[in-house]
Amino acid sequence: MTPEKSVIAYINHLIVSNFSYFWDEIDGYLYYLGGTLGTITLSSLAASVAYYFATRPVPEQPLVPLENQSPLLEGPEQIHVSKFYKESKNGKFVSYITENVRTLYQTFREGAYASNNGPCLGWRETLTSPYQWINYDEALLRAKNFGSGMLALGARPKQLIGIYSQNRPEWILYEQGCYSFSLVVVPLYDTLGPDACAFIIRQTEMSIVIVEDDGKAAMLLEKAPRSLKIIVAIKPIRQTTLERARSRGIQIFSFIDVEKLGAKGNHPEIPPAAEDLCTVCYTSGTTGNPKGVMLTHGNVVAGVCSVILQMGDHRIRAGDVMVSFLPLAHMFERCCENGMYYVGGCVGFYSGDIKELTNDLKMLKPTVMPAVPRLLNRVYDKIQNDISASGLKRGLFNMAMRAKEKEIARGVLRRNGCWDKLVFKKVHQAFGGNLRLMVVGSAPLAGNVLTFMRCALGCLVLEGYGQTECTGAITLTVQGDHVPNHVGPPVSCNAVKLVDVPEMEYFFQSKYGRGLCARLKCVPWHMYNPSSTIDSSYYKDPEKTAEAIDSEGWHHTGDVGMWLPNGTLRIIDRRKHIFKLSQGEYIVPEKIENIYTLSQYVNQVYVYGESLKVSVECLNPNTFLTHPSRHHFRAAL
Ligand SMILES: *[C@@H]1O[C@H](CO)[C@@H](O)[C@H](O)[C@H]1NC(C)=O
Repeated sequence: MTPEKSVIAYINHLIVSNFSYFWDEIDGYLYYLGGTLGTITLSSLAASVAYYFATRPVPEQPLVPLENQSPLLEGPEQIHVSKFYKESKNGKFVSYITENVRTLYQTFREGAYASNNGPCLGWRETLTSPYQWINYDEALLRAKNFGSGMLALGARPKQLIGIYSQNRPEWILYEQGCYSFSLVVVPLYDTLGPDACAFIIRQTEMSIVIVEDDGKAAMLLEKAPRSLKIIVAIKPIRQTTLERARSRGIQIFSFIDVEKLGAKGNHPEIPPAAEDLCTVCYTSGTTGNPKGVMLTHGNVVAGVCSVILQMGDHRIRAGDVMVSFLPLAHMFERCCENGMYYVGGCVGFYSGDIKELTNDLKMLKPTVMPAVPRLLNRVYDKIQNDISASGLKRGLFNMAMRAKEKEIARGVLRRNGCWDKLVFKKVHQAFGGNLRLMVVGSAPLAGNVLTFMRCALGCLVLEGYGQTECTGAITLTVQGDHVPNHVGPPVSCNAVKLVDVPEMEYFFQSKYGRGLCARLKCVPWHMYNPSSTIDSSYYKDPEKTAEAIDSEGWHHTGDVGMWLPNGTLRIIDRRKHIFKLSQGEYIVPEKIENIYTLSQYVNQVYVYGESLKVSVECLNPNTFLTHPSRHHFRAAL
């Protein structure tokens, strides 16, 4: 018998003899023992027992007292803030970590220094090639050249420049190129659709857009508003597209050409100030035109810094490798990447096909990964599927989960224990094997999936809650809190208060749900507009601004939350998109969607509702076609 097999046999013996409460102490020891189990002698047993107890994992101290994670400000409104807010000089929102690093122009240069010009941006040519990297100094030089090139093409500081591309190194060169000359980043993306993209170009009077490839250039040309004058293409463009552009009076340049143009012109940099507009980030609403959220450099730096602080001892640092696959068009990914560039870590881009993510992860071996529930639900579902076939596997898995849960509850964070190596190794490997930090955001994550990921990955898994209007994170769970089903205390650049939602019968004072309202107060994010009023927070849209932001400056998130006794926030509902069923129950389509996406039969789900009936349509072509019973999922509620 191999050592691992004998350990498994021993574990099964334990299951049978119901000794599982023993596990807390002996699981770590067992693994160590596993290696010697074949040729065990009494003295080596004694020595290994001694060795184990000498190297026993030591629990970590939580970042905040777990029973009181967010202090309250005085007053009847019950405003919750982060511990860092309370600890800072007479109570202040955190807007930066170092006083002289307050723009995304400065954070990137700080990272170049911190990493000692280490690797910065990585990509692979094909799915079989390794990652190649450019260092910070080269990235900075190319970014500066690209920015200088945009100036040569007629861009002027504070002008809005669009980008329509998947994540790739050029995205960051463009982004930093913009910051080098106080230009403003405006991402366009597929899910907006052609009409919304045209709307954005028109609303911002954008004249330059960077596109990834021919298809995206062609799409823009189809509905190009008159303001559009120049398209910069990262990949080659077809002749027909070039001709079509010419006939519309639009010039097309290649990305490299713009870099060369900029190198020749060598325009001196025009760095932005913290109050300058950094980005206009459009979010697609359910109805009507998209809203352009205006964020200053100060806003984004505050958002990034407050998340870094909330990570405690596990914060990102030089030497970290992050995988980039979530869309850079959203603030979640933008904040994560800019955090990495701030501390001098490096970012490796996925190959562009989400189906090949595992391949990329195995090659990149990231230490840090932002993730979304959809991805983790798939992993969870796959593992559940794997273990359901065999009673032995299932028993082992459940024991491993119980033991890891206990370990995590004690504050022990590791992935080299007995259970990690025995049961969860495959999960580690699927994520590259080096992961030490995962941040989950953008949608609600089921508690059992979160706990599973924490156990299976053996690394710190944080869940955040945020909105573009608040520069990303509003709350983030802290290291040491292993309990799922909440999104943690506020981060230090935001304060959170709850207000009544009478139409849903949620009252601030009542025991259950309460309305949620989050305010961003670190840097007035309206500063960019000279008439600096609250009206200006959505780009040229005072009406929608008035809907979302009240007279005191609180941004109403539209989510409904409640405070748990230990000062963490739980999101329990959504104000909009609700159906009230005939029996008087409220149905939240997202909730149903989340449940259905847990199933292996479901790839995409669409919930349609009239207040009397809600139907769910979903299908996963892969499992659907191969599964013998061929259910068609169609449920009426
Ligand atoms: C926080 O409070 C909730 C609700 O009372 C509880 O279930 C959870 O265990 C607490 N979290 C911690 C880390 O103690």
